[in-house]
Amino acid sequence: MTAKKLLRVLAGEAVWPPPVWLMRQAGRYLPEYRALREESDGFIARCTNPDLATEITLQPIRRYGMDAAILFSDILMLPWAMGHGLDFVEGEGPVLPKLRDAAALNRLSLDRVPEMTAPIIETVRRVRATLPESCALIGFAGSPFTVACYMVEGGGSRDFAATRLLSYAEPVLFDRLIDLLVEATIGYLSAQVAAGAETVMLFDTWAGLLPPAEFARHVVEPTKRIVAAIKRLHPGLPVIGFPRLAGTQLGAYAGQTGVDAVGLDTAADPVVAASLVPAHIALQGNLDPLAVVAGGEALEQQATAIATAFRGRPHIFNLGHGILPQTPTENVAALIERLRSLP
Ligand code: CP3
Repeated sequence: MTAKKLLRVLAGEAVWPPPVWLMRQAGRYLPEYRALREESDGFIARCTNPDLATEITLQPIRRYGMDAAILFSDILMLPWAMGHGLDFVEGEGPVLPKLRDAAALNRLSLDRVPEMTAPIIETVRRVRATLPESCALIGFAGSPFTVACYMVEGGGSRDFAATRLLSYAEPVLFDRLIDLLVEATIGYLSAQVAAGAETVMLFDTWAGLLPPAEFARHVVEPTKRIVAAIKRLHPGLPVIGFPRLAGTQLGAYAGQTGVDAVGLDTAADPVVAASLVPAHIALQGNLDPLAVVAGGEALEQQATAIATAFRGRPHIFNLGHGILPQTPTENVAALIERLRSLP
């Protein structure tokens, strides 16, 4: 049996205290990240420079000793590698061309993905070679639906209305986009695993926007195909899925996709989530990122309550969404210490 706590939980073991890592743990709340950010030429450049990306991936591990490192990159680097434009605008987030017709879809290609993502894969290799023995390496991609949301909308949105309208108005086109993303994601994640990722996570930030039939078609089915392919190519490789805001559809997701762990957003009640997800599937989450900004009693109480609520089930302690840039570093330290010292 592997000694890495995170991998033990992914194999179905209830470990106490639970292993912990935090979504977006490498990022702007860390002064050492902000310092590197000043010196580097934009977000895409940081993601595609193995020296910088390796260093950034390791920063939170050095500072806090989390149980897992997650590759420093972004879910939008895959469409970027497929030839879709991408820019990260300060204070605005990602900006992309809007994919609305077959001509735009036909311009995408998988041919150059291995070459374009080679520096990211090299980062995986380097991080794996330098990680502490107890720390697992997580590779990741966006789920096809969430990546399609950004490609169709052209950036962030509250409700991704244009994307969901396109899926109703042009179902053949939308399915072709999802199918292309499924194929690209399988190749991309498989390359990360070959380079040393010990588990992979699919971020489906906008899954919860969909009604049941569309959730089944655009979230469950594509995820199931990716999970099956990864497990065929890399037998036994655990997969984590994060269908954010899926609510009562967590049951369909956990029961049908084949994932080994399900990420929970902050709104998920631990008891209800546990009843919807089969007992052998691990749960990951789901502390409110704002509680880590607040710190003090609020943080200590919420963290303890979450760890306790999931006790006895395979559980990976995490946030319910990414850590916020204004999070005081000492609150993260207090959180990790609290979890490590749980009686
Ligand atoms: O978790 C990690 O630490 C690993 C790296 C990672 C990033 N983004 C780095 C990043 C991961 C796993 C992501 C996932 C991601 N990216 C998601 C899914 C999870 C989620 O947060 O919902 C989404 C939707 C994106 C797309 C994206 N990237 C947006 C909307 C933004 C702008 C908002 C923001 O926080 O700035 C990004 C930029 C981004 N991705 C940053 C980081 C560290 C900040 C940019 C910077 O530091 O210059």
